[in-house]
Amino acid sequence: MAAEIRPMKYLVMTGSGRQGSFNARLAALAAAAVEANGGTADRARITDFPVPVYDGDLEAAEGIPAGAVAFKDRLEANDAFILACPEYNASVPGSVKNLIDWISRMRPQPLHQRQALIMSASPSMAGGNRGLWALRVPLEHLGTRVYPDMFSLASAHAAFGDDGKLLDDPLAKRLDDNVAGFMELVEAAVVFPCVRHAWVEFLGERPDPATDRVQIE
Ligand code: FNR
Repeated sequence: MAAEIRPMKYLVMTGSGRQGSFNARLAALAAAAVEANGGTADRARITDFPVPVYDGDLEAAEGIPAGAVAFKDRLEANDAFILACPEYNASVPGSVKNLIDWISRMRPQPLHQRQALIMSASPSMAGGNRGLWALRVPLEHLGTRVYPDMFSLASAHAAFGDDGKLLDDPLAKRLDDNVAGFMELVEAAVVFPCVRHAWVEFLGERPDPATDRVQIE
């Protein structure tokens, strides 16, 4: 009998809390594409998960902060996540990296074996794409399966119409296709979980719970 396929749930998050954020506008379009393709979109932004700057002494004294626990809960309430993230100084915003650092301290480690699509928007001609390459590093390091295609919106200040949609039709189609392709992979991964172990770096180090970032069943 064929497996029953339920609607997949997506956390659609913005790595900027700014009013009028271009990345929030891009995330809104990604959420609309998710829903147009039969998924559910759970919208969030980085400022929904306030955390202090990571400090090992603070962690030892007070444990994981509530904002990081809330982020972990939202990740786990969904099947996958889409993150529309600004590029700051050719890299990941410190706030986003700091939140990743906090949740990487949890066991089970919440980014392990999670599916992600990352995208960016910037007024620049590169559309924040360098930031996405930087964002891939900690996510993949932690075992997240980051979808190969990434969407970067250049000249974001001039890219949206009054209705919030992209003015450039071929670009709008590319965004929809990118989200739809990701959703096919997420559905396959959830319904047919044939890959038991996520990618892990094998650097010749001995398995050691003190340093391992993932759990090996
Ligand atoms: C930026 N911005 C930026 N843009 C870019 O394309 N490459 C970059 O390296 C940077 N660096 C950078 C550093 C800092 C500290 C700030 C505040 C901004 C500009 C950035 O793309 C622009 O402010 C976007 O509007 C930010 O995204 P949101 O908030 O609109 O989603």
